[in-house]
Amino acid sequence: MSVSADMKRPTPQTIRARKGGAPLVMLTAYTTPIAKLIDEDCDIALVGDSLGMVLHGLPSTLGVTLEMMILHGQAVARGLNHAMLVIDMPFGSYEEGPEQAFRNCARVMVETGAAAVKLEGGVTMAPTIRYLVARGIPVMAHVGLTPQAVNTLGGYKVQGRGTDADRVMADAIAASDAGAFSIVLEKLPARLSDDITARLPIPTIGIGASAGCDGQVLVIDDMLGLFTDFRPKFVKRYAELGAAAKDAVRAYAQEVRARKFPAPEHEFGEEAGGRK
Ligand code: KIV
Repeated sequence: MSVSADMKRPTPQTIRARKGGAPLVMLTAYTTPIAKLIDEDCDIALVGDSLGMVLHGLPSTLGVTLEMMILHGQAVARGLNHAMLVIDMPFGSYEEGPEQAFRNCARVMVETGAAAVKLEGGVTMAPTIRYLVARGIPVMAHVGLTPQAVNTLGGYKVQGRGTDADRVMADAIAASDAGAFSIVLEKLPARLSDDITARLPIPTIGIGASAGCDGQVLVIDDMLGLFTDFRPKFVKRYAELGAAAKDAVRAYAQEVRARKFPAPEHEFGEEAGGRK
């Protein structure tokens, strides 16, 4: 069922109210054409800072800037009519303190028209989340594997195994208590994801978490087979567009070299209406 078929454009409030209801569908988008493609079928379009890796070839999300997020956020906003737009706050743009976070989140919302921002962190970021929400900025939280903390986490490992479960649970509770309207759970054991989902009053959106979450998110380039540098276990490929694009490029190159393209139907004649 498409979003447009049965409901108006979601808001942070209506997303929050979906707790325990029909699963939320979220995908990343970074460009207008992809935003148009996902708009009808998704509740939320996330301009994730994963764009640094999948679009810009950066080694991690750490090099992503506020300007990059705003530029891609504006492009995605132009392609959406139904899905709610959420924009990731990049590394270094919100961690200093609530005032820095407010300044940059407000800029993102004003310049892109996003309905909400997403930021990484739980216990540490709770005062900032509370400050933002109290000042009109809806926040989607993100706990578990938080890629901006790759250097302190020691890699892109599954989080919350064994006694570490308490830390991740505490992060999730802190973000929810601080007023986040939803929360991304990334790369956690399925049972811990289910426990967090049962415990929190806000929707959990899983990526490498569990089918029991209140919603799911994937990186669009991963699920379309466009980003193939590496493939986490949690990625399901729904298409192999990268391989199809490679075949198309090869066929074009062969036809150009063989002078088969352009064919007469692609050329212009002297008179209007075609070559003849
Ligand atoms: O940056 C991103 O794409 C994300 C999703 C993976 C949740 O944060």
